[in-house]
Amino acid sequence: MKTLLVVGIGAGNPEHITIQAIKALNRADVLFIPDKGASRADLADLRRDIIARYVTNPASRTLSYAVPKRDAANPDYAAGVDDWHAALAQRFAGLLEDVPEDGAGAFLVWGDPGLYDSTIRIIERLRADKAVALESIPGITAVQALTAAHCIALNRIGEPVHITTGRQLGAVTTDTVVMLDGQTAFTSADPDLEIFWGAYLGTPDEITISGRLGDVAAQIVETRKTARARHGWIMDTYLLRQRC
Ligand SMILES: C[S@@+](CC[C@H](N)C(=O)[O-])C[C@H]1O[C@@H](n2cnc3c(N)ncnc32)[C@H](O)[C@@H]1O
Repeated sequence: MKTLLVVGIGAGNPEHITIQAIKALNRADVLFIPDKGASRADLADLRRDIIARYVTNPASRTLSYAVPKRDAANPDYAAGVDDWHAALAQRFAGLLEDVPEDGAGAFLVWGDPGLYDSTIRIIERLRADKAVALESIPGITAVQALTAAHCIALNRIGEPVHITTGRQLGAVTTDTVVMLDGQTAFTSADPDLEIFWGAYLGTPDEITISGRLGDVAAQIVETRKTARARHGWIMDTYLLRQRC
């Protein structure tokens, strides 16, 4: 049976990778690199860098694949995501053809495959039709990169933490980590909260800002805008919590 390895590669620093992930990458006959277009070339380059640094298996090869785009204009978000995943499952089925029988293919997944990533879900769709083994190898998440960059603990003593998206951010009653926020949702949050914000975490371009939200929100919006224009993309994450 063929095996698909879903390998967490960390959130931007090639040194985030674990020994378990390096071993998994070296088991793969084919290493799949997602191609999200020229504006996201940096992200494909990081994956290539990881392969060049850590893959010593001379028999393996890399294979780029174009990532279909989600129809952001679909007013039904869930239906749009479902269509997009169906298109990705079809693409993955094509990639599986390139894996030799009893061999393995590896997806290099940003951060950890279990956090805001659908690679596992999409492979599960594929498995409804095809017999294929699946293994997930954990990676360092953007959340860990954020707390490390700010030298803070994620949770306060005995307290919970809520992880959500910008789209879902409501009133902050629990310490909250926000990911996937293209709308700068923090600008509508209580200005008396404390924010720990980070972009391009773990990379040489890492930027961090922290403080009382009302004091730093405008600076984050401006920094974000300038950085996004410079790189052509931005990935940022932040923690909001009541100030002590
Ligand atoms: C599709 S999710 C992937 C999360 C990933 N699986 C993880 O474990 O961190 C993409 C979001 O993760 C966050 N993110 C990923 N890498 C980041 C980085 N290096 N710096 C800041 N945020 C990052 C951003 O919120 C981005 O919108």
